[in-house]
Amino acid sequence: MNADAVSVCGAPIRVRHQGLIDWVQEIAALTQPTRVVWCDGSQQEYDRLCAEMVETGTLVRLNPAKRPSSFLARSDPSDVARVEDRTFICTSNRDDAGPNNNWEDPAKMKARLNELFSGCMRGRTLYVIPFSMGPLGSPIAHIGVELTDSPYVVVNMRIMTRMGAPVLDVLGERGEFVPCLHSVGAPLMPGEADVPWPCNKTHKYIVHFPETREIWSYGSGYGGNALLGKKCFALRIASTMARDQGWLAEHMLILGVESPQGEKSYVAAAFPSACGKTNFAMLIPPASMGGWKVTTVGDDIAWIKPGPDGRLRAINPEAGYFGVAPGTSEKTNFNAMATLRENVIFTNVALTDDGDVWWEGMTKEPPAHLIDWQGQDWTPDRAREKGTKAAHPNARFTVPASQCPSIDPSWEDPEGVPISAFLFGGRRATTVPLVFEAFNWNYGVYMAATLGSETTAAAAGAQGLVRRDPFAMLPFCGYHMGDYFNHWLRMGHVIDNPPRIFCVNWFRMDESGNFMWPGFGDNMRVLKWVIERCQGRANARQAVLGWIPRYEDIDWTGLPAMTRAQFEELTRIDIEVWRQELDQHAEWFERIKERLPRELVLKREMLALALSV
Ligand code: GTP
Ligand code: SPV
Ligand code: MN
Repeated sequence: MNADAVSVCGAPIRVRHQGLIDWVQEIAALTQPTRVVWCDGSQQEYDRLCAEMVETGTLVRLNPAKRPSSFLARSDPSDVARVEDRTFICTSNRDDAGPNNNWEDPAKMKARLNELFSGCMRGRTLYVIPFSMGPLGSPIAHIGVELTDSPYVVVNMRIMTRMGAPVLDVLGERGEFVPCLHSVGAPLMPGEADVPWPCNKTHKYIVHFPETREIWSYGSGYGGNALLGKKCFALRIASTMARDQGWLAEHMLILGVESPQGEKSYVAAAFPSACGKTNFAMLIPPASMGGWKVTTVGDDIAWIKPGPDGRLRAINPEAGYFGVAPGTSEKTNFNAMATLRENVIFTNVALTDDGDVWWEGMTKEPPAHLIDWQGQDWTPDRAREKGTKAAHPNARFTVPASQCPSIDPSWEDPEGVPISAFLFGGRRATTVPLVFEAFNWNYGVYMAATLGSETTAAAAGAQGLVRRDPFAMLPFCGYHMGDYFNHWLRMGHVIDNPPRIFCVNWFRMDESGNFMWPGFGDNMRVLKWVIERCQGRANARQAVLGWIPRYEDIDWTGLPAMTRAQFEELTRIDIEVWRQELDQHAEWFERIKERLPRELVLKREMLALALSV
């Protein structure tokens, strides 16, 4: 292959980076695709790939009158979520990966992967996807190049990142990039017919080499397993870069809040997968609260760096949303529904008879007939009998962030937005109060480090089990969690006024299993208290875990249904239950062993003491 490579639209792309050309050649020799295509990132290329996928049955074109320029993909039923047990961090020293990661020796893993990738793209096209995490050419952005044999990945990456020829211009002749290799692991023999969603049912490997900053992903075409800019690069690899360079790469949404007086603040919040980031980032405050406004900077990932003004500044490295569909409705997330009006790729949602999409929670009454996410006829009656869902619980939409009505004017500002508060929240039916403020930075780090949450459909495996998901980063921290805690403790001291830290829980349930808190837009009531705490304007009572709002400290305008007694139940700290919770913290800390910061051990002892009186 010479420096003038082929693009999907036929116009050759000029590639000046010999290192990149050599790598593509090396991988093509290993994987043996039928052809190599350099993606230019153009609309024509996107349209053409989508049209091809409609032909091959990978995509269904939705009714243009209902959902213009939008498509539905149905995955293989075995390939519907991230696979945490098949995700590896390969460091030369096992301890550097930590107890939070699966580890393998880099050389051994490379040998295994070389075997798997050998000839794995036979009968397929190898697409070269140059992409930028962060605005193109900005000093905070980092470039990656994903090689994939999945056209579905190409079109999703075009929405989720800044992708294509302009990235090669920025890369120049010797710019740095993170090589991201991906294959669905399903070579085609001559004459063999393809399936709509190729993947490898037996072998899946999502592998990271943080020391050489490489990613190899095999066997899955779904979400975080395959769109390598997202969790693999922007979190697992970036978290190790952040550790080395003094910044933070976090599983956080970023939102702007404007008070009725026009004061603007920004908040970053870490909730585990499928625990409410997209919804919180697009929140519409109740009109009754009088002129509060929320704007969206990002819904999943934040890169946060100390700014020249001594404040932490956050950017969203992504360009789109890969959001959870079920539960999204005009009522719960109006902004998301508006974002989804056109130019969307839906994956594993249900298809309506008039060529549109539906999922559980979109409307109160389901349509009388649907084609479910597995392509089968679906009716409400049959669903009641058999319990089958029309959409997979981890069904997702991929959509450009620029279409979001609540997008923040600074969402692409390379300087980032200044963060006033960090929120940490899990999905906990019991135990954790609606909201509390940590006494100080180090207490906040303790609370985040011990965050518990019920597992969700975003990852393969059992659901609804409480596990520790520190900082909502358990599946995404590319190094030893003890070192990560230390890094966070240190970051509180390299800046003048660290953001205040709050813990929230929208998911507490009563005895009959109903959510006790209305959530969604009403989360503004909590957010208002948070902002006013940061401004020194809101009151609270001191509790063992931190500062908790009293009933009168929350703005209840327009929500007369919430009584004082209900609120007290929502914010109740059950001492006996918290003693057990602290036992679980101790168990979790036990796993981190000698790399656990002393400071966190001390904080646990202080809390244990406070709970014992
Ligand atoms: P990832 O994309 O997996 O990282 O998830 P996320 O954190 O962005 O989660 P998302 O906002 O998509 O929410 C996941 C599910 O939780 C959806 O079904 C939402 O409807 C539901 N949810 C979000 N916020 C709330 C809330 O305040 N209360 C309740 N009860 N459910 C919520
Ligand atoms: C998550 O699981 O946290 C997601 C979806 O945001 S995925 O991109 O598949 O990781
Ligand atoms: Mn996520």
